Amino acid sequence: MFTARSLIAASRGSLAPRHLAAAVTTLQCPNPALRKLDQGVRYSTSNTAASATDGSFAAFGHLPRDRPWTVLGIETSCDDTSVAVVTSDRRVRALVTRHQTKQHEATGGIVPTAAAIAHSMALPGAIREALETAGIRNTCDEIDAVAVTRGPGLAPCLGVGLTAGKNLAAVLNKPLVGVHHMEAHALTPRLTQEAPPEFPFLSLLASGGHTLLLLSEGLSRHTILGTTLDDAVGEAFDKVARTLVLPWLPTGGGAGAALEQWAAHATGEYAVTFPVPMRDGRDKPASRLNMSFSGLKTSVFRHVQGLQERDPAAWAAAMATSEPSSGIRADIARAFQDAAVTHLADRLDRVLADTISVRKIHPTCVVAAGGVAANQVLRARLGDVAEKYGLRVEVPPPRLCTDNAAMIAWTGIERLRAGLVDPWELDYVPRWPLNEFKERETARF
Ligand code: KG4
Ligand code: ZN
Repeated sequence: MFTARSLIAASRGSLAPRHLAAAVTTLQCPNPALRKLDQGVRYSTSNTAASATDGSFAAFGHLPRDRPWTVLGIETSCDDTSVAVVTSDRRVRALVTRHQTKQHEATGGIVPTAAAIAHSMALPGAIREALETAGIRNTCDEIDAVAVTRGPGLAPCLGVGLTAGKNLAAVLNKPLVGVHHMEAHALTPRLTQEAPPEFPFLSLLASGGHTLLLLSEGLSRHTILGTTLDDAVGEAFDKVARTLVLPWLPTGGGAGAALEQWAAHATGEYAVTFPVPMRDGRDKPASRLNMSFSGLKTSVFRHVQGLQERDPAAWAAAMATSEPSSGIRADIARAFQDAAVTHLADRLDRVLADTISVRKIHPTCVVAAGGVAANQVLRARLGDVAEKYGLRVEVPPPRLCTDNAAMIAWTGIERLRAGLVDPWELDYVPRWPLNEFKERETARF
């Protein structure tokens, strides 16, 4: 049994995937029309010889020059089956996302093979629904390319989406773009925001699986400036909410949203605070931009355990209600949230200071994405920090902050614009650290 979170978090580690160990060859675009359009652009294929049927060549003849491109996006890297239709003039014509939450509740975590079966069952219907929602009647004429998540993620799950995407591209004879899931999160605000952020910009990607501070300087050029050394922040919110037995809200957002609601009812009558992680010089210089949430989560757990032993009557009274309300559980929830949010805000502050004064790079804005970015307290604190540097915080709408195929389709569009197309024999990459992605992919330009 794995948790999807831990597997995907591991995929950002330092292990080199065997796929990336293979030599990447570069070829000059063979189509004269596109060679003109993308002068000097090189694109990679696998190390087998490219041919007229491997998808690499087909790409260039098919992209329209007289109207916006329409791209079908597919995302199946974890436990959401998502399909979208997005245009190069930044319209999300359809976004269909089917969650597997209920199914995985039964097993207490994600079993990758079971998740893959669920993807394979949900995907055809999601594709059909997305095409219908977008009003696409003739798929062959109206879809210009297929973009699909190539990694990182759970191998069996990635395989379902990638195989579907490759087969669709081959059937339609359209270009295929394999997308790095984290690049897609980082590029989302360029699809969603009224004033799309120009490079370079900083992102905080904070969800149940990721806690990253990223500097994005261009396509494929994303640098991790800080990351969690243990639990993702969303994972910590989820575990603390479970420790406090906070029921999920009918309005969604899972355990993290429930915790935020309870924290909003805190009065401070039950006086408790938790130390902000890695503060007071306890952080090693090498980790000064990194984060940690496991110790904080454990402090809350120990505190609750101690209270239950010391004063079982008080705990029993606190447990009498299941609605968000004031009392011990609300005060503990707020103390945890304060420490977690302060930690994230501190790290953003350090990262901004370093980026500007050490790297001499002035970001155009700060982007907050991932499920945890829905937290209003966090948004306000990030806003305060960014304001010190004269920057604004951009937050994509919630359904595009969390895992979705619109971000995959959009990243496909950005990559197509740069002439980056993949062969139909493309393989998935479950472990795909962003620094390796950057190194390999920038070599394609
Ligand atoms: O990006 P996301 O929807 O999914 C993945 O992790 O893949 O993020 C979900 C995470 C969960 O840990 C959830 O508890 C957290 O985001 N979350 C929140 C809030 N809403 C969702 N955490 C804190 N405050 C919230 N309002
Ligand atoms: Zn994600």
